[in-house]
Amino acid sequence: GTTLGTSAAEKGRYFGAAVGTYKFNDNTYMTVLNREFNSLVAENEMKWDATEPQRGVFNFSAGDRIVNHARSRGMKVRGHTLLWHAQQPGWAQGLSGGDLRNAAINHVTQVASHFRGQIYSWDVVNEAFADGGSGARRDSNLQRTGNDWIEAAFRAARAADPGAKLCYNDYNTDGINAKSTGIYNMVRDFKQRGVPIDCVGFQSHLGTTIAGDYQANLQRFADLGVDVEITELDVTQGGNQANIYATVTRACLAISRCTGITVWGVRDCDSWRGSDNALLFDCAGNKKPAYTAVLDALNGG
Ligand code: G3I
Repeated sequence: GTTLGTSAAEKGRYFGAAVGTYKFNDNTYMTVLNREFNSLVAENEMKWDATEPQRGVFNFSAGDRIVNHARSRGMKVRGHTLLWHAQQPGWAQGLSGGDLRNAAINHVTQVASHFRGQIYSWDVVNEAFADGGSGARRDSNLQRTGNDWIEAAFRAARAADPGAKLCYNDYNTDGINAKSTGIYNMVRDFKQRGVPIDCVGFQSHLGTTIAGDYQANLQRFADLGVDVEITELDVTQGGNQANIYATVTRACLAISRCTGITVWGVRDCDSWRGSDNALLFDCAGNKKPAYTAVLDALNGG
């Protein structure tokens, strides 16, 4: 293939980007987006603060715009994210206990129902594990409603949109470490008990190195019987940027259950990482060496 999307499709995978509707009137941005990618995810517009700004009052206009753009061009859509400790609306931040649990599960049901049939995979729960060596859950208002909040969210999402793959998504899980092992144990437990889970998202916000066991870590999750997806890839620009991008791409291609890769933005100037210049296109929309490395890897180089 000659683009990221067509090359990934030839390997049975998608290659996507995180987008914001506030850039949809930028011609350079849209030209690159429409040419290169065959999957989209909302960088912010489907999060809790965006979709339920007041309790029980939903706003899907920006999310619908992203879904409509993707569908009109035959692109997949990832859903990000139903429940997360961050970017909660103020009203939810003020709740606790059963009241918060009810509001959270209602949020999952309403949002997943609205987008029913249109989402390839949902990040049902995002970033629920702690950093560091504990392997434990992250403390949050959601976690304080009871340890079963994650499985309750997955069951509600399955009921609302039975056709979507349901993912758990997190960062700093890019090798075999205490955090990824905590998640691994949760997924294994969910599979054993029949809690609906179909995929694990590895955000892969990377610096100047990549774990030597990156691929082995993906493989151990795939061996549990879930798909794996690279969901928010970006890499600090430096001597290794192109190599690290290629290593991630080859790791995904090497694992039959790795269904696709999403980069967390289009151009360096669109990125939350600013001066890290962490993406595949420069601010003028030109292809960077990292782009060529990914394209070559997708094409078997
Ligand atoms: O929408 C408001 C706007 O009204 C206001 O004027 C402006 C002033 O700062 O802020 C706007 O909200 C910002 C929002 O992005 C939309 O641009 C928030 O301040 C800002 O915090 C928010 O940042 C997002 C961040 O998640 C929030 O935690 C980033 O764009 C987004 O890239 C980032 O994405 C996360 C993933 O969801 C989960 N994994 C990590 C990843 C990177 O942090």
